[in-house]
Amino acid sequence: MSSAPEPRVRLATAQDADAVFRLLTGFATTYRPDPDRFTAVTFPEVLRAAAEGRAEFLVADQQSRVVGYAYAARIPTLFAGGTVLELLELAVDAPLRGHGTGSRLVREVQHRARQAGDAEVTVPTRRAADFYRRLDFTETATYLKWPSPPRP
Ligand SMILES: CC(C)(COP(=O)(O)OP(=O)(O)OC[C@H]1O[C@@H](n2cnc3c(N)ncnc32)[C@H](O)[C@@H]1OP(=O)(O)O)[C@@H](O)C(=O)NCCC(=O)NCCS
Repeated sequence: MSSAPEPRVRLATAQDADAVFRLLTGFATTYRPDPDRFTAVTFPEVLRAAAEGRAEFLVADQQSRVVGYAYAARIPTLFAGGTVLELLELAVDAPLRGHGTGSRLVREVQHRARQAGDAEVTVPTRRAADFYRRLDFTETATYLKWPSPPRP
């Protein structure tokens, strides 16, 4: 029996919305994604940011089925003398993990950062630091957050 071909990493498109939402619901732990807001606001915003070069938004496509995605925001900085690419979301379908798809997505993010002249790629992570260390990331800072309360 022949096994499925390796997923191909490509740019995300509007047609990937449902697949990305499915992966997002498996990835998000702190926030529960709202499907209506995803469809109307956040997904189109991220697509637009990627089209304008303000983000990288990639999917891993296995025979026209999206099995993983990566989203990184390109942030202008003063301290680095240019842009920093922050990898904010990375997820691979649970049954397909451990076959190199996550690494392939991160390698493509790194490649695109080099092409764009970003000073560095950063990644806030609690669950996967060892995964990133294998991909040449090194620990640099403690990441704190202040959850903004809902508007009155
Ligand atoms: C992290 C994640 C994207 C990796 O995807 P993947 O396709 O399994 O990655 P790869 O197959 O390229 O893994 C490469 C190696 O990293 C290891 N690895 C995977 N996830 C890891 C984790 N969370 N912590 C430490 N090591 C991990 C794998 O075991 C594998 O090691 P091996 O080659 O010795 O078997 C995937 O596990 C996932 O979607 N996790 C849930 C969401 C998540 O934690 N995202 C990252 C948060 S920033």
